[in-house]
Amino acid sequence: MGQIIACANQKGGVGKTTTVVNLSTYLALAGDAVLVIDLDPQGNTTSGFGLERGEVQHSVYEAIIEDADVSDLIVATNVPGLSIVPSSISLAGAEVELAPLPQRERRLARILTNLVAEYDYILLDCPPSLGLLTVNALTAADAVVIPIQCEYYALEGLSQLIATINLVRNHLNPDLAIKGVVLTMYDPRTNLSAEVDAEVRKHLGPAVFETVIPRSVRLSEAPSYGLPIALYRPDSKGAEAYAALAAELRERDGRRTPVARDAVDESVSPAETSPESPAGVRVEAT
Ligand SMILES: Nc1ncnc2c1ncn2[C@@H]1O[C@H](COP(=O)(O)OP(=O)(O)OP(=O)(O)O)[C@@H](O)[C@H]1O
Ligand SMILES: [Mg+2]
Repeated sequence: MGQIIACANQKGGVGKTTTVVNLSTYLALAGDAVLVIDLDPQGNTTSGFGLERGEVQHSVYEAIIEDADVSDLIVATNVPGLSIVPSSISLAGAEVELAPLPQRERRLARILTNLVAEYDYILLDCPPSLGLLTVNALTAADAVVIPIQCEYYALEGLSQLIATINLVRNHLNPDLAIKGVVLTMYDPRTNLSAEVDAEVRKHLGPAVFETVIPRSVRLSEAPSYGLPIALYRPDSKGAEAYAALAAELRERDGRRTPVARDAVDESVSPAETSPESPAGVRVEAT
């Protein structure tokens, strides 16, 4: 039986899409059958795999709102073993259109029931809000991966996300687990990144993945070529980090992946030259 993982954080630009695109790619390259569902009307995951938004014929909108068969919406990507249900701009209206529908929080969960046996992992990329699309993702998911950007207000809003996860647990999906928190855009030249790392680990403990995703120009360039980092610059530090994250996630699921982790760990440790640190890291979550 496959596992459904939602990548969620209502904060914008923290690395949800980059994580979904690259984590799913390395899971597939490790031999897993992987499906990605782009639930964000922005469609960055869709274009990240080289699918032009204008050329997308069918999107997840049709399954969620119009009851189309989701199997008909799945398209292959340029990564072997990895398929995607694309997003389209029509999804922007879905929050409003979902509101009056019966079982509006469970539409995605219902759609995925028949698919889950066909994949090892189904990854859901959420929009930057806690609206009905994200609630649908959390209701359908077995677990959630939370990216946190290594920046000054790193933990701001996290308590709101955790509260939403708890609401979903209480009313819709009691078994929803937190798969892990992943620190993104870690800059080893700053004390701030190291402080955020320490602070997040202090508050969230073992939920935080050991692997840290470094800030990497290559990672931010790859989507403009419609390629995951594994196909764009497989030797870059960002590539090594996402490969390590996939290996760590598989390890949490009792699956072994032959990946050398040492090089990655070294690449994201704080550097010797650290400029003055901004005054502390603000932490809201407890
Ligand atoms: N590790 C990284 N290093 C450098 N740039 C990154 C990294 N991760 C993400 N980015 C860049 O930061 C921006 C935001 O990342 P991304 O789109 O993954 O975040 P998001 O949480 O999905 O955003 P949104 O909330 O808008 O959906 C993008 O331009 C992306 O290319
Ligand atoms: Mg995104």
